[in-house]
Amino acid sequence: MKKLQAVLITGGAGYIGSHAVQEARTYGFEPVTYDNLSTGHAWAVKGSLLVKGELADRKKLSEAFKKFKPVAVMHFASHIAVGESVINPQKYYQDNLTNAMNLFSVMLERKVRYFILSSTAATYGDPLEVPIPETHPQVPVNPYGDSKWILERILAWYDKAYGLRSTFLRYFNAAGADASGKIGEVHDPETHLIPLVLDAAMGRRKEITVFGQDYPTPDGTCIRDYIHVTDLAGAHFLALKRMMETDKSDFFNLGTGKGFSVREVITRAEEVTGMKVPVRMGSRRAGDPPELVARADKAQEALGWQPRHSSLENILKTTWAWHRNYFGKKSAGRKNKRAGHS
Ligand code: UFG
Repeated sequence: MKKLQAVLITGGAGYIGSHAVQEARTYGFEPVTYDNLSTGHAWAVKGSLLVKGELADRKKLSEAFKKFKPVAVMHFASHIAVGESVINPQKYYQDNLTNAMNLFSVMLERKVRYFILSSTAATYGDPLEVPIPETHPQVPVNPYGDSKWILERILAWYDKAYGLRSTFLRYFNAAGADASGKIGEVHDPETHLIPLVLDAAMGRRKEITVFGQDYPTPDGTCIRDYIHVTDLAGAHFLALKRMMETDKSDFFNLGTGKGFSVREVITRAEEVTGMKVPVRMGSRRAGDPPELVARADKAQEALGWQPRHSSLENILKTTWAWHRNYFGKKSAGRKNKRAGHS
């Protein structure tokens, strides 16, 4: 049997990274996870290679490259909470930038030419047009988005100077869980809307706080483009294959082109779970743009990518299945009223 080409996946034990690890072999690549397990989980990469290490540890990183000879790196390891980044920017600039710089220098040393950056819709800031095309000005409104935008700019120069090719994948809102029910989103603390809504449905938390209801949107709550994590993961390998064929850097939005408000997500979650979601109205969270929806055709046309798992219903169903599987026992027995939707 032909040996698969190795890909080093930093943060492979995390939420999106572990779904990429799960998908890698389907696309003809052998995943090697490099993760410090500070927020990731070893169980999430069961059945594939895991190196436990820090990105700050250049020696260990270099040894991993030497041993596994990856053809490319997918870089998922990063701090990801928009709200936290506004309160603690030092953490975001320090870690997200220095870790990536270490990775780049080891890649240059070991002559690894292909890099996939987990970038974000947060690099666009408050959109001037929606859906947001990839050519939209990048004016981040929070340090998280800014740290990713800085990396995009560094990589553009590295392409010119060193021939290090990279693809920036600007994620919209990753959500959902693998259909196997074996992996899914577990953040501590959790900050993302969908798992928090399902926590409230399940009784793991008292209620969901809606951050702001005075946005310039039809129901006053923020609109986001939710993309299933399995679709997101698959896009990485399609992008890598294309980059290796063309030997060119590129950038893509990864979203569906359809947005849902916070209120809509809550209502649909009640429908999918059959549970009432207790809601509290809160104030705006700093750093949140009112509406982030992708113009999604570039990835579909250039990569032949289809976000086929990404209906909101499927996102909620797979997250709900995962949630009950992983967290279920803790809240078993809680009585919850059925939602009364007509
Ligand atoms: N929200 C609430 N209550 C909560 C949590 C979230 O109302 O308890 C709202 C937020 O204000 C936002 C929406 O739900 O309007 C989605 O919030 P998330 O925290 O789930 O996601 P973000 O949109 O803040 O950020 C996510 C990723 C980022 C990425 C961004 C791009 O975490 O990495 O999507 O859209 F940059």
